[in-house]
Amino acid sequence: MERTFAARGDIYYTESPSVARAVRDGWLVVVDGKVEGVWQRLPERYSHLDVKDFSGKLVIPGLSDLHVHASQYQFRGLWMDEELIQWLNTHTFPEEARYRDEAYAGKAYGIFVDDLLRSPTTRASIFATIHADSTMVLCRKLEEAGLPCFVGKVNMDRNSPDILCEETGQSIRDTLAYIDEVTSTCSLVRPVVTPRFIPSCTDGLCRALATIADERNLPVQSHLSENLGELEWVKELCPDSTSYADAYRALGLWGGRRTIMAHCVYSLGHEEEMLADDDIWIAHCPDSNTNLSSGLMCARYYLDRGCRIGLGSDVAGGTTLSLLRSITDAIKVSKMYWRHVDQSMKPLCFREAFHMASVIGGSFFGDVGTFLPGYEADIVVLDDSTLPTTIENLGVEERLERYAYLRPEAPVAHKAVAGRWLL
Ligand code: GUN
Ligand code: FE
Repeated sequence: MERTFAARGDIYYTESPSVARAVRDGWLVVVDGKVEGVWQRLPERYSHLDVKDFSGKLVIPGLSDLHVHASQYQFRGLWMDEELIQWLNTHTFPEEARYRDEAYAGKAYGIFVDDLLRSPTTRASIFATIHADSTMVLCRKLEEAGLPCFVGKVNMDRNSPDILCEETGQSIRDTLAYIDEVTSTCSLVRPVVTPRFIPSCTDGLCRALATIADERNLPVQSHLSENLGELEWVKELCPDSTSYADAYRALGLWGGRRTIMAHCVYSLGHEEEMLADDDIWIAHCPDSNTNLSSGLMCARYYLDRGCRIGLGSDVAGGTTLSLLRSITDAIKVSKMYWRHVDQSMKPLCFREAFHMASVIGGSFFGDVGTFLPGYEADIVVLDDSTLPTTIENLGVEERLERYAYLRPEAPVAHKAVAGRWLL
């Protein structure tokens, strides 16, 4: 049967932020793309299955990137000396404007999808640009690669340069056409409604997008409380709102549908209650928050409250697609928060940050992100044999931690999505 096999290797997955299971030289059984279970010895009833032998290698669930701008991938690692608004105006918007040219989009998105395929990410929620046709180019490339992502055509109808500013009616029409095209031509890739952030979208556009999300039963993604200058700007634009999140609520863009809000650095003390809603996922993007001097996010608070807080690469605020890097960055940022801001918020440990990148992020996409029975078999195989050490008898979790710190950007050895091998 297709998408049915028994994979052998050093298996690791989490069941909760504090509970992980590691099985050295164990077996992961997948039937019809779904996990049956993980065993130390292969049960007799599965002895007829195809064997995928990854002995000596690390076998982990695929990771989910809750926030990444595919259209910014080409300038990752450049222009890191500015804060958000200046960085957007000087570098980001001019680059995104180039995607009106589908040939440019084809070249740039080709590089992005190739690299995403070789990264530990199996699912992602992606921002493209305002251009519906070139956003479709990205969708087709992801579909061909076998990566089941949410992709948003970005909406922006104010405070944007002429070359990257839509007329409101056109923005709505293009969004509807884009949604129709993705849903009728893609089976893995799905649309997500993507108002860039409040400063870029008029009230009328936000309300129209909320209606579209409801009528088409689609998720929403945007940015929230990332940068102090941004916060001041939103206060000026929405004087009647009690917080940035409250401004989204007033426009119909909060609650009642699955929504990712990226960053939430300055939400504590203003809007943290709203982030506890069942249908809100927080995309914590520690590399971006550091590069753009945005601030120190308190991931510990949201994790301990049981909020849905996953990780995002936020390329090109973040420099790399590797969520293994986001994991170690999240740990480092949590240590700075604990040391410099609040000593009651203890640092994240590796297991907790891995759980955020796999299980919590994965929950946005369905039953994804762990090897419990019934979950989609998203599998990543990592080869740590290229990292020799004299330290003996490392456990599986220790080897994974070491790999995340030392080789986050190395191409993965193998990758499957819902039991289908892509690499
Ligand atoms: N807020 C609005 N647009 C963006 C963007 O492209 N990147 C980041 N980091 N924040 C944003
Ligand atoms: Fe972003």
